Amino acid sequence: NKILLAYSGGLDTSVAIKWLQDKYDAEIITYTADLGQKQDWDEVEAKALKTGASKAYIDDIREEFITDYVYPALKVNALYQEKYPLATALARPLIAKRMVEVAKKENVDALAHGCTGKGNDQVRFEVTFKALAPELAILAPLRDWGFTSRDDEIEYAAENNIDVKATKDSPYSIDQNLWGVSIECGILEDPWAEPPSDAYLWTKDVDDTPEEPKYIEIEFEKGVPTAVDGEKLSPIQIVNKLNEAGSEYGVGRIDMVEDRLVGIKSREIYEAPAGEILITAHKALESLTLDRESKNYKAEMAAKYAELCYYGLWFSPLRDALDAFVDKTQSYVSGTVKVKLYKGNCTLAGRKSDYSLYDHGLATYDESDVFDHESAAGFINLWALPVQVANEKNRK
Ligand code: ARG
Ligand code: SIN
Repeated sequence: NKILLAYSGGLDTSVAIKWLQDKYDAEIITYTADLGQKQDWDEVEAKALKTGASKAYIDDIREEFITDYVYPALKVNALYQEKYPLATALARPLIAKRMVEVAKKENVDALAHGCTGKGNDQVRFEVTFKALAPELAILAPLRDWGFTSRDDEIEYAAENNIDVKATKDSPYSIDQNLWGVSIECGILEDPWAEPPSDAYLWTKDVDDTPEEPKYIEIEFEKGVPTAVDGEKLSPIQIVNKLNEAGSEYGVGRIDMVEDRLVGIKSREIYEAPAGEILITAHKALESLTLDRESKNYKAEMAAKYAELCYYGLWFSPLRDALDAFVDKTQSYVSGTVKVKLYKGNCTLAGRKSDYSLYDHGLATYDESDVFDHESAAGFINLWALPVQVANEKNRK
């Protein structure tokens, strides 16, 4: 009896190692994804083994995360409920997919995760497990173990020699990766309470940011960033660099009440400096390079795409089809965008592209104007026709 458990190194998943082992008389293998969250991986591995795992995987999937999950969402400008760039939501299907690969290699009987029964993450893990390995059983110890309080759980941990002190005493529940931090619980559960500044992990308070603005130039090729300030960089380097710059200027804080898939409204805060900078820049380049109808249609589908990500439907036929559409639209989304970071804001300073559809002769109001003004009058005659008829017949 072998179980592969998604392991963060925190209290819940450490207790889960022991609990699963006892309950199912099973061998436990742990899987931990390195998604760019700063953790001591040797320590995580040692803790898993000390707590009773027979083997502990630490898997660096940062590159795949950015390239195959974050960038497709960036091409869409995907924001759940117009605000959340989906850091946690995009990571879950990748973690689950990698777990399935490890599960097959290790011949396990079941996959397990440490999500609660109230959240979205359980859905994202389990939908992906079912999509990619329907033959494997799924275990969700936090839904089953019946500890009624944190103290119960800590007592169980102490009895079983699980290191409790190492899990530092944060009042918040935090999930981090390269695309952002998700923060919930504690005082944040009161939607009227302003987030205390210690709730934010990456970004500076506006009061502590520099007095001078910072300009950054970002180059894109076919919808994805390739260079910052003239320097070609890898996807991980680009995201890291923009997270650092944005954090320094207080950019990328999000405070929202969102609708979870399981029906709950939840107050959450996020930090996504690179996400805010890149989506702002990418949208600006699209405004220059996409024709009107493609741009507007794409903006309509962006909300749907974000929902698919948020609802755990990454490995779905629709997401696949939408990616094909989006990739086609990105053929000419190449060029450079200049943004300005200042006092918590990322604003646009300029955009240029060899594929720009902006035509100065058509747009200008000076004497170089080439626009056919007479055609405008004829165009409006026909454009107005149905409205004119309806009004004449008193059918407003
Ligand atoms: N509400 C966000 C989402 O559903 C963040 C979830 C954070 N997850 C966590 N395990 N702390 O994507
Ligand atoms: C959890 O319940 O595990 C975290 C919250 C969420 O998934 O939305």
